[in-house]
Amino acid sequence: MNRIGVLTSGGDAPGMNAAVRAIVRKAIHYGIEIYGVHRGFMGLINSDFVKLDISSVGDIIHRGGTTLLTARCDEFKTEEGQRKALKNLEAFGIEGIIVIGGDGSLRGANALSKLGIPTIGIPATIDNDIAFTDNCIGFDTAANTVVDALNKVRDTATSHERTFIIEVMGRRAGHLALYTGLASGAETILVPEIPFDLNAVCDKIEKGYIRGKLHSIIVVAEGAANSMEVGKVIQEKTGLETRVIILGHLQRGGNPSAYDRILASRFGGKAVDLIIQNTKDKMLGLINGELVITDIEKVLSATKPLDMELYQLSDVLSF
Ligand code: F6P
Repeated sequence: MNRIGVLTSGGDAPGMNAAVRAIVRKAIHYGIEIYGVHRGFMGLINSDFVKLDISSVGDIIHRGGTTLLTARCDEFKTEEGQRKALKNLEAFGIEGIIVIGGDGSLRGANALSKLGIPTIGIPATIDNDIAFTDNCIGFDTAANTVVDALNKVRDTATSHERTFIIEVMGRRAGHLALYTGLASGAETILVPEIPFDLNAVCDKIEKGYIRGKLHSIIVVAEGAANSMEVGKVIQEKTGLETRVIILGHLQRGGNPSAYDRILASRFGGKAVDLIIQNTKDKMLGLINGELVITDIEKVLSATKPLDMELYQLSDVLSF
């Protein structure tokens, strides 16, 4: 293989740049030409390619977001869009593509490989909802961002003796909410994977106040409930002063943590090793500290289970 491409797609995740840097430098180390694709799959359709060299990825390992830019591309979901992308790749002589992103991006990589282009997927999403990897690039940084925000909210919650509802991202999954809720000592964590009863949540809050607690922090995964509604119900039922905070996109930004930079560098380096061996349709993952390789089809047909040990522990510790 003489020429490969790399793209970032879907929601940006801190550490994507570190992965791109590793891919570019490892490819150049092997004497392979490497092209960046701007704006994910949209860039494949529009032939938005740029040749990358060692210095084009200098000074980016520590930066959040993605210097290749990203997009969500509906046209690529169609067969016509995929054929256009294939034609452009062939015209450019790009023989394999490394795709960095979440489940939508892996779906795109899978579609390309079915058309005959070798693809390697690198999981990168703050939602951490990809099966066959313990961690996705960006999750650790986002979790630290949320915990930092929760530390700050705690100061106000205690001073005003208030109940705070904090909505965190995660789309349909509760991994980010569970992890950050446990790390922050939240009283209650609501996740889409586990049914909950707001009456029981209110009872728990009230018991806490009776015991002398000065505040309550409820972490709500965006896929679990409407946090504004949760806040309204809790205030009405308990009579306690309640505030709702939606952390939103600030969770996706910021400098990647050391963990995410190293994970991204490992994934990026290994992805080049795989693609130059003509490996098709595989995703890299990290399980128990080891790099693992799984068929993208298998990844896409699986749902990552919530860590029930963490969930049960959080419940016991937050009594
Ligand atoms: O997948 C990452 C994520 O941040 C989700 O947690 C969230 O639901 C979604 O993307 C938001 O998407 P957008 O940035 O397109 O509004």
